[in-house]
Amino acid sequence: MNLRSDAYIDGQWRTAAHRFDVINPATQDVIARVPDLGAAETEEAVAAADRALPAWATKTAKERAVILRAWYDLMIAEIDRLARLITLEGGKPLAEARGEALYGASFVEWFAEEAKRAYGRTIPTTTATRRYVTIKQPVGVCAAITPWNFPMAMITRKAGPALAAGCSIVLKPPSQTPLTALALAELAERAGVPAGVFNVVTTHSHTSAIGKVLCESPLVRKFSFTGSTDVGKRLGSACVGSTVKRVSLELGGNAPLIVFADADIDKAVKGAIASKFRNAGQTCVCANRILVEDSIYDAFSKKLADAVSKLKVGDGKAEGVEIGPLIDAHAIAKVEQMVAEAIGAGAVALTGGKKHAAGAQFYAPTVLANVTREMRVNREEIFGPVAPLIRFKTEDEAIAIANDTEFGLAGYFFSQDVNRCWRVAERLDYGMVSINDGIFSNEVIPFGGMKESGLGREGGVEGLEEYLETKFVNFGGF
Ligand code: SIN
Repeated sequence: MNLRSDAYIDGQWRTAAHRFDVINPATQDVIARVPDLGAAETEEAVAAADRALPAWATKTAKERAVILRAWYDLMIAEIDRLARLITLEGGKPLAEARGEALYGASFVEWFAEEAKRAYGRTIPTTTATRRYVTIKQPVGVCAAITPWNFPMAMITRKAGPALAAGCSIVLKPPSQTPLTALALAELAERAGVPAGVFNVVTTHSHTSAIGKVLCESPLVRKFSFTGSTDVGKRLGSACVGSTVKRVSLELGGNAPLIVFADADIDKAVKGAIASKFRNAGQTCVCANRILVEDSIYDAFSKKLADAVSKLKVGDGKAEGVEIGPLIDAHAIAKVEQMVAEAIGAGAVALTGGKKHAAGAQFYAPTVLANVTREMRVNREEIFGPVAPLIRFKTEDEAIAIANDTEFGLAGYFFSQDVNRCWRVAERLDYGMVSINDGIFSNEVIPFGGMKESGLGREGGVEGLEEYLETKFVNFGGF
């Protein structure tokens, strides 16, 4: 697999006079220079996707599955290179990057298989002279805007079902991590994905102009976005307001992780670390705040702080590193500001609480005690390696704190009481609830949120539906 640094439109590698730097967040070195494309090239990509659509949509699901399986096999064959690329441009430790590459590939495998089961229905008739059926058809040309925190998996979680359903797609990857997207384009080309079916438009300066084309073009019938709630709201309104597109939005989270007194404390500490410190806390489903029952608060916080203080921080390429850099200077400044505000309002850093000596964009893994509901670290997504601890006394109070947010993506809790497990899972206002486990993401589950965390589901059988129209057909007159 070559390091690709040109955009990919209509099966052609596209260069441009204006290019932008892709920076390694661990070292601030320039890794590559990538075309800074705009609205005109995006319109070209949409037109190419529209031309490619009929031939792709009319292939059988099995024919598409053969090509998608070849794409998946190439991803697996190149898994180590993909992992290195993810680490290089996104900063994620290598072992975690490998995990992401496997996770990303799994969506292509899953949807290749699942498309063969895109069943319609026969509906019992209401009139003797009619017969009713539904059939499933591809939505049409799709557009996707993906984030930097999962440079590969957030692409395949959208492109996998889109292509499997018979749609073509135009992808705008983030300016921080476009190289993984271009590597996927190379593998798609080698797998036999036809020209125009998978297009990658790279940009740094023209994000809004490209977003406008993708949201407003009448040729695009479905738009999928993963990113912040503010941006998602604007893009979603533009899609519906202009051309009433189908929209999937996977937006911000503010995940609570509740540790009840009846939990296995060691398992809860392990789960909290896995959930909170994954990708240095830069994951929409990372536990944002940890709610701990009063009677075990001191024991839990001590064990957590001890374990967190031992996490190895450094360049993700180095052996054994568990916490890499944050993506950019803005991310570091935001985390510093939120921690300073919390400490100023009475929180105490049990470990960390400052930048890390490993480099300009590293933040020390942090545990904050004495956090209150009013603090920003409880109310807003931190997106950094900071675990705020909030004390609660009763189950009702824990649920009230957990649900007191406009977000509803993921929630976690630790308890060994089976009745409580069922009860709390039902009462948490979150699209995904994980019990006694800090990590749950995989290709077979419906991933998505409630409230302002988004619309629609990705992965699972639900993920394919997002790219299919249900058409009703009436056979009349017999
Ligand atoms: C995300 O942060 O949006 C994705 C996390 C995951 O798929 O586990």
